[in-house]
Amino acid sequence: MTDPQKVLTERVQQALAAAFGAEHADADPLIRPSQFADFQANVAMSLAKRLRRSPREVAEAIRAELSGFPGTVEVSGPGFLNITLSDEWIESEAGRMLADPRLGVGTITPAQTVVIDYSAPNAAKEMHVGHLRTTIVGDSLARLNEHLGNKVVRQNHLGDWGTPFGMLIEHLLDIGEEAAVAQLEAGQGTEFYQAARAKFDGDESFKLRSRVRVTTLQSGDPDTMRLWHVFMDATVRYFNKVYDMLGVTLTDADIAGESMYNPMLEKTCDDLQESGAAVISEGALCVFPPGFTGSDDRPLPLIVRKSDGGYGYASTDMAAVRYRVHDLKSDRILYVVGADQALHFRMVFAAARMAGWLPDTVSAEHVQIGMMLGKDGRRFKTRSGESIKLMDLLQEAVDRATAAIAERGYDEATRDEIALAVGMGAVKYADLSVSHDSEYVFDFDRMLGFTGNTGPYMQYATARIRSIFRKAGLDPADAQGPIRLPEAAERALGLHLLGFGELISQVTEACEPHRLCAFLFETASLFSTFYEQCPVVKEGVDEETRARRLALCLLTLRVLETGLDLLGVPVPERM
Ligand code: ARG
Repeated sequence: MTDPQKVLTERVQQALAAAFGAEHADADPLIRPSQFADFQANVAMSLAKRLRRSPREVAEAIRAELSGFPGTVEVSGPGFLNITLSDEWIESEAGRMLADPRLGVGTITPAQTVVIDYSAPNAAKEMHVGHLRTTIVGDSLARLNEHLGNKVVRQNHLGDWGTPFGMLIEHLLDIGEEAAVAQLEAGQGTEFYQAARAKFDGDESFKLRSRVRVTTLQSGDPDTMRLWHVFMDATVRYFNKVYDMLGVTLTDADIAGESMYNPMLEKTCDDLQESGAAVISEGALCVFPPGFTGSDDRPLPLIVRKSDGGYGYASTDMAAVRYRVHDLKSDRILYVVGADQALHFRMVFAAARMAGWLPDTVSAEHVQIGMMLGKDGRRFKTRSGESIKLMDLLQEAVDRATAAIAERGYDEATRDEIALAVGMGAVKYADLSVSHDSEYVFDFDRMLGFTGNTGPYMQYATARIRSIFRKAGLDPADAQGPIRLPEAAERALGLHLLGFGELISQVTEACEPHRLCAFLFETASLFSTFYEQCPVVKEGVDEETRARRLALCLLTLRVLETGLDLLGVPVPERM
């Protein structure tokens, strides 16, 4: 364990127990970064009242128990403990971190099975920008959990079933399979849907055919199922183009769409009814989880079977919870879905707990994704008011990145490779760097900027360290130190890097990739200061200084590379 804040927390807790009795061993020592030292502990202030002693006295008593501490502890002001770690301690911890292939990142034992429901576009419509964010955030959570040794089961809960498929299949027959497939593969799902819809609304015989088709689809008629597959396969090929371009880890094996649960819905409902968790209300089968009321104070139903016998979104999600707990044996289920579905998930989780399908040992969490806004602060749309095709958006990011690096004199192949990484890195980092539940303004100019907390800046910072090694004619792996941190800028960078392992654990536990972005941004900033103040490969730098600085460069590089990889942000070799 290397994280200074965590080490200090434990040391001060031991001191608390020694000074005031074992019952204080769990007290939070309130360790915070400080202006006057590396850290300060504020616990004496809060403890003093309870102990009926002055805060200063309490602080002195804690300090007295901190002998043998690797650094200095001073009592200041009314009773703050100012803590400065010794350079030797930071150096030796940084050295250990450099020698550790995992960079101080632990593994969770026993490993958990974490089901992550993310991306989940709807086949009957176009994949839109909202799905971009759930895809990117979910993918980072998957990478983080795997890195900590958890077993991750990705579940792409595609909207691939339901009544619209009657008219979609009829429309597919009308225009011919080949034309339909071409259109869907090109990402024109919205246009396809709209054409079907227009006929459905204006043409009685089409409407009738569509209704019949829903029934034959529900009954599993082989011809109809084949057509459904033709439609879905073409649609999924388009989704895969988007996933490929983004470099997300989802594959076809992760598809577990609504259609997969269709055969389970009848039993889902029967079991809910038999156990008494669901009751018939106004003809519909409903669960009334406690604590949910509508505006009129009446209990709010989660409708699992409509009064016409049909199933809906909630029916599927009830079947899915049971499957994920029972069949996938999950310890934790993350639903990375738009914040506007918060009520739905709270009710589904409560209903599943009522039914005994979601035991207390399994946590189900809605990782709420805030809405994407345009620069005007409204829901992100094109000028004519339509939602924006995802592929076009991604292509625009790459085009803009291409223009931004046009002057740098790369050959075409290299340029295209860098532009793809920069464009995708910009879009992904922008999605990840703000907390997932806050609304987020989509702004190409800002996300593609080469300064500030952006993807391109982080990529540039990483590529720059690589180029230091290239210039030195050195394989980074050979920079094994030892690490020494005599200069303030070296020390500040070294101390910061020690927090990496603990941060990764916290970010994974709390599902907060934006904190990883903040950590990496701080890393890059501290590195910049270090690099300005401490020449590494310049002439006149002696062997020893050069070696210790290169080792610090390598540690920084590995933290940046690992961190960006866990975010799913690619790093081009050069920029
Ligand atoms: N397809 C849904 C949508 O686009 C998201 C599905 C999320 N997952 C779930 N289990 N409900 O809104």
